[in-house]
Amino acid sequence: MLLVGPNDDFNTKLAESLGVKLIALDRRVFPDGEVCPRVLGDTRDEDVILSMRMEAGSGSPNRYLMEVLFTLRNLKEHMGARSITLVMPYFPYARQDAIFRPGEPLSSKYLGELLEAAGADAVISVTVHLHRIGGFSELFERAKAVNVSGFESLAAEIKKLPLKDPFILGPDTESIHWAREFAHYYGTEDYDAFRKERDVATGEIRTYVKEIDLSGRDVVVVDDMVSTGGTMANAVREAKRMGARIVISAFVHPVLAPKAVDRILGAGADAIVATDTIEWQGSKASVVRSIAETIRGM
Ligand code: R5P
Repeated sequence: MLLVGPNDDFNTKLAESLGVKLIALDRRVFPDGEVCPRVLGDTRDEDVILSMRMEAGSGSPNRYLMEVLFTLRNLKEHMGARSITLVMPYFPYARQDAIFRPGEPLSSKYLGELLEAAGADAVISVTVHLHRIGGFSELFERAKAVNVSGFESLAAEIKKLPLKDPFILGPDTESIHWAREFAHYYGTEDYDAFRKERDVATGEIRTYVKEIDLSGRDVVVVDDMVSTGGTMANAVREAKRMGARIVISAFVHPVLAPKAVDRILGAGADAIVATDTIEWQGSKASVVRSIAETIRGM
């Protein structure tokens, strides 16, 4: 077994934890934006784990996906890999798991099919945003699909903070199950969620609070991902307005469009804690151990 991926801290730790060799992947990008990911080693007849992460910030999902698709195909067709397990810690386009308006694509399903067609035999991802379908495996026809919880490592990191009378808060109705999952790993039953409405055409967000007594409490606002930061910022602002002493913004995937961090801090967050499912210099928690355990168990 071999690990192929960018020679970064994440993959170095993953390779060490699995006791396998890391073959570097050079992510060359041409001036016009075309990509040419190059595998710098021999993968013939090997069971390959391909581990690639998206970068935080706008514009990177599509470049990232082209790199992943080309590398999968290259490993299978030209580099003789026997099998490929793709480690894609953040699964882009997962939010489009339904056709919300006539004429839109079913992007998450199409992406699953593209990954399979390119050569993925198994796909491991973390806290995949699936609200309207039964499970991650429904995105694939043949490939084995494993959805690892990112809330375990996030909760472990937050546990290091000396919080007083903590309360776990989801920023919108759908996030109640994220709040419950986080609360489970954190070891509390004190959680709830606000309600939010988003205009599907303009993206405008409205947050509706619940009557929860937050005064003097330390609140952890948890979500699976932050993109523009609008959802998180609204919840942080309301929690502070409702008397929270400290508000921590905690999320698994730091997608982080430009200004998202400023928006959250500007709303009054005392700290931001996210995992390393996406390359972001501010990530404090790591999902490497959870992914390594999953691979060992497969
Ligand atoms: C939505 O259902 C997700 O769980 C997140 O709350 C959402 O994607 C965050 O988006 P934004 O940061 O743009 O408000």
